[in-house]
Amino acid sequence: MPSDVPDIPVPAQPAYPYKADGVRLRPILPADVRAVNAYRSLPEVARYLPHPPQAMADTELSVSAMVSQQNFTTPGQWLDLAVEHGPSAEVVGEVVLKWDAENWQRGEIGFVFSSDVQGQGVAFAACTAALDMAFEHFSWHRVEGICDARNNKSAALMTRLGMRLEATFVEADWSKGEWITLRHYAILKREWSLLRGHDLPNTTYRTQHAKK
Ligand SMILES: CC(C)(COP(=O)(O)OP(=O)(O)OC[C@H]1O[C@@H](n2cnc3c(N)ncnc32)[C@H](O)[C@@H]1OP(=O)(O)O)[C@@H](O)C(=O)NCCC(=O)NCCS
Repeated sequence: MPSDVPDIPVPAQPAYPYKADGVRLRPILPADVRAVNAYRSLPEVARYLPHPPQAMADTELSVSAMVSQQNFTTPGQWLDLAVEHGPSAEVVGEVVLKWDAENWQRGEIGFVFSSDVQGQGVAFAACTAALDMAFEHFSWHRVEGICDARNNKSAALMTRLGMRLEATFVEADWSKGEWITLRHYAILKREWSLLRGHDLPNTTYRTQHAKK
């Protein structure tokens, strides 16, 4: 950890909706529950997610947890952002950023999208916006992404984003009744800066508090 940075900086909340390339990212709202359930309930969408296809009651619990966590205040938290696409305000997917609990300049990205918008570059646009947010707004140094080795669409998306396959962990986790092999991807801030073609600031944190 560089010595000239605060121990645990607290980022300011981005201005929402966070707009980019035809998509808008914003915090999940209680009213989104039906739209979220429409895709989280599908077996093909849930296939490589940690949970089974969700009943409405499960989605209500998930959305309520997301609503209660709408900005980063402490490392280890998750920020689950709804994605809107085109003229509609209906949620078509989610991008989640997880702030690493141990190293405040590191995080993880996750994503889930409705089958209706898959195969169109919507997930790519939303994840690009989320990585911009992670590197430019939260000033992370490194973002990681993990997928089931059989999840070719997830692997293709992370590769398309410029993330590097760094490791394959064979039968490293137990999920849905079987051992699963995990692929770990990552990208650094300087690599994202090169891909995006502009310099990124070293830090954008406005407030901080020290914790020993
Ligand atoms: C993983 C997931 C988000 C990928 O979504 P996706 O729509 O395939 O991803 P992209 O947005 O990158 O779209 C890529 C496709 O759109 C096409 N495309 C069209 N326009 C495009 C554009 N402007 N930019 C990028 N891709 C574009 C690409 O050619 C590609 O097509 P292909 O699949 O035929 O090769 C999606 O499959 C999903 O939600 N799965 C279920 C949940 C899940 O498994 N999440 C990951 C857990 S680790």
